[in-house]
Amino acid sequence: MSGAAHRPFRIAVFASGSGSNFQALVDAVAAGKLDVTIELLVCDKPQARVVERAAQAGVNAFVFRPKEYASRAEYEAEILRLLEERQIDLIVLAGYMRLITATLIDPYYGRIINIHPALLPSFPGVNGIAQALEYGVKVTGVTVHFVDGGMDTGPIIAQRAVEVANDDSEETLGAKLHRVEHELYPAVIGAIRDGRVHLDGRHVKVTS
Ligand code: GRF
Repeated sequence: MSGAAHRPFRIAVFASGSGSNFQALVDAVAAGKLDVTIELLVCDKPQARVVERAAQAGVNAFVFRPKEYASRAEYEAEILRLLEERQIDLIVLAGYMRLITATLIDPYYGRIINIHPALLPSFPGVNGIAQALEYGVKVTGVTVHFVDGGMDTGPIIAQRAVEVANDDSEETLGAKLHRVEHELYPAVIGAIRDGRVHLDGRHVKVTS
């Protein structure tokens, strides 16, 4: 493909917290391991560390306070306008602590992904790490999936297992899971960008 014809693959990352996954994506792009443009950060928490990370990386951020909107539909409509304006190809949820509704899902279904720190369908929702420890599983892991209207219920793209050690705490297990997330998310986004991820109902095939 000639350089002039090459349109960058544009992603928007949605996050509410520390943003270590956001950082992993920024670093993968900078290292030439992921050929996408991180066009936008969407964040619902003005104080979140991820906002600083975006500023440092020179990524535009839309930071909003949900309370300042009459409804979720209203702020999602504003986000949608931004996504369309910037011709976003893929929405990447990375610790975004809000449910996404039809306003965004309908126009973007199959182009919104999420990462979850457990082997879905086990331990969905918040505290996936604590839930796994509490239950006493010996193996947990990381899931990347397409987003539908439910809580961590969409079609699964990729999973990696992580063993739980006898003495693991939420912190130590969380650190192991994060390391896996930081490898897996850029890899999956690269596969989507390359057109190697095929969604068919509940099933997803990733080809090489
Ligand atoms: C990650 O563990 C991710 O799986 C979950 O939220 C966490 C975000 O972490 N959805 P960070 O903000 O990227 O460090």
